[in-house]
Amino acid sequence: MNFFLLTLSLFLSLSAAAPPAFAPKNHTFQVKESIPSPHGFSQLGRAPPESTIRLRIALFQQDFAGLESALYEISDPDHPRYGAHLSKTQVEQYVAPHPETLSMVDEWLASHGIHESDLARSPAKDWVSVTLPIHRAEELLGTEYYVWQHTDGDTLVRTTRYSLPQYLHSHIELIQPTTMFTRGNAMSSPSIVSPDGPVSESHAVDDFDCNTRVTLACLMRLYNAAGYKPRATKKNAIGITSFLGQYANVQNLQTFYRQELPAAVNSSFKFVSVYGGLNNQSLSAAGQEANLDVQFGLGISYPTPGTFWSTPGSPPFFPDGTTVINTNEPYLDWLDYILNSEHIPATISTSYGDDEQTVPFTYASRVCKRFAELGSRGVTLLMASGDGGVGPGACLTNDGSNQTRFIAQFPSTCPYVTSVGGTTSIPEVSAGFSGGGFSDYFSRPEYQDKKVGHFLEGLGHKTYDGLYNRQGRGIPDVSAQSDRFTVYWRDYMILMGGTSAATPTFAGILALLNDARLAAHRPALGFLNPLLYKHGEGALNDITVGNNPGCGTPGFNATHGWDPVTGLGTPDFRALLKVCV
Ligand SMILES: *[C@@H]1O[C@H](CO)[C@@H](O)[C@H](O)[C@H]1NC(C)=O
Ligand SMILES: *[C@@H]1O[C@H](CO)[C@@H](O)[C@H](O)[C@H]1NC(C)=O
Ligand SMILES: *[C@@H]1O[C@H](CO)[C@@H](O)[C@H](O)[C@H]1NC(C)=O
Ligand SMILES: *[C@@H]1O[C@H](CO)[C@@H](O)[C@H](O)[C@H]1NC(C)=O
Ligand SMILES: *[C@@H]1O[C@H](CO)[C@@H](O)[C@H](O)[C@H]1NC(C)=O
Repeated sequence: MNFFLLTLSLFLSLSAAAPPAFAPKNHTFQVKESIPSPHGFSQLGRAPPESTIRLRIALFQQDFAGLESALYEISDPDHPRYGAHLSKTQVEQYVAPHPETLSMVDEWLASHGIHESDLARSPAKDWVSVTLPIHRAEELLGTEYYVWQHTDGDTLVRTTRYSLPQYLHSHIELIQPTTMFTRGNAMSSPSIVSPDGPVSESHAVDDFDCNTRVTLACLMRLYNAAGYKPRATKKNAIGITSFLGQYANVQNLQTFYRQELPAAVNSSFKFVSVYGGLNNQSLSAAGQEANLDVQFGLGISYPTPGTFWSTPGSPPFFPDGTTVINTNEPYLDWLDYILNSEHIPATISTSYGDDEQTVPFTYASRVCKRFAELGSRGVTLLMASGDGGVGPGACLTNDGSNQTRFIAQFPSTCPYVTSVGGTTSIPEVSAGFSGGGFSDYFSRPEYQDKKVGHFLEGLGHKTYDGLYNRQGRGIPDVSAQSDRFTVYWRDYMILMGGTSAATPTFAGILALLNDARLAAHRPALGFLNPLLYKHGEGALNDITVGNNPGCGTPGFNATHGWDPVTGLGTPDFRALLKVCV
């Protein structure tokens, strides 16, 4: 965990009580977090002082440990509390900051002329945000903001180090945007556009066995879900997240349905704008990723209602002194929104992620905790494991030392989400690009001990020694088909691949399982991993052939049981029904 040179010491005081009020306050600035120069970015000039920035301040939570134990109890199928999901209020009680923390931070902000009416707070008050001109943010944090340009041309306003008065270090866990240079990536591999030219409406595409192209019908057969009729459509729902200005096109969805699921024609998703996320239905604005996610996620679970959340990505930054600097932290925006909702779809698919090392540890840790909040409310989160095998490119560490190291994808590495890897062909083998490996941030959760421990024993200590964290959370947890999906996009039928395809596929199957549970008047599955690792054997197709090259190595091998290429395997819906319902 201390592989990276971030300021991690405060992690130790996560659930510690606030210090007594009478302790003298030490106002000396002390560095809170500092990172080496980020790879791929060059520093341009100072950020324009009058541009505004929305700072998000994460306060230490009082009892995340309590929430985590509750989460594990209610997600363990053999525990008496299994399925007793928490209410919004119960979750908020665990993660609320100590009153002392709240008053210290409010007082500090007030001393800088920032008052309650300037602040926005999360429901549990564990996040505070405030919009300020850059020069005031710089004073507050003892830092200087710069404009940074990525080699691909995108610009960000960030700093590589910020400070806080010493006495606030035990109250404030992190402040962003500061050291967070992550931009978020869709997990779809380059697609083959229009192998057949513009789509013709009469064109039949079904491939009975999914071997040359993947359609809804062949996936349903392959995963033993054909013929299942959802019954709990009034209670159940599936959600698809979208970032980076990806729009799901309704007209394309209709074409997909006409081709692959005629009964669903005229049905669509519910569009929800998160913090101004747009819904551009112009055909030329349709996103490949969003279309893929919606067509397969909703198609598999039809007629389960679908929700599509559009959260804005990063608009280009123009250093003209007037632009509001986008926080560009879409996960937090979406999480703020969703955790504030009373009713949340039971199954949520996310096909976006980043190299774990590019996400500051404190940020990854807090975002991951919010996923635990969702899990404890009964939501299953499926996240793509990435498309770079054991790591993208040269896999150099960004801690300044430039060592070679396998790089897993966040948020898949968060132990409270279900990470989905990729397979291809029939019989199924792993896809070469299937993201897999071990987290350098999160240690192995207990539910993985037996299965992951077994894999590591087989691997031995010598193989890839020093390239991965043997104690880390292993990904993926499961997998699904991930190549040559028939997606309708603009005027074309295109073939798309990536764990971006596997994730909505697994989510669609999971939505059907949740349907069966809700129809049987049982609670939704919620956080799924403890159940899968305990009872999933035999209900998932174990993938034992293939490997996931990366970082100049052949990567790991798919093996019997769990492996860091395909996890526990691909779904067998009717076998899972027996285990889950
Ligand atoms: C105040 O904090 C600074 C920075 O951590 C430290 O160097 C200094 O010794 C502290 N002063 C007192 C009086 O504790
Ligand atoms: C879709 O709507 C059109 C126009 O209202 C109608 O003709 C068609 O039968 C509908 N199709 C389905 C499958 O409901
Ligand atoms: C929608 O997208 C199209 C194509 O990218 C663009 O020309 C148009 O301006 C967009 N409309 C809005 C309202 O943003
Ligand atoms: C590591 O790589 C970066 C970017 O390529 C380079 O600027 C830096 O000098 C390298 N550091 C070392 C210690 O080799
Ligand atoms: C993968 O399997 C091949 C063939 O059995 C073997 O030579 C290789 O060492 C294995 N690699 C790892 C990382 O386990």
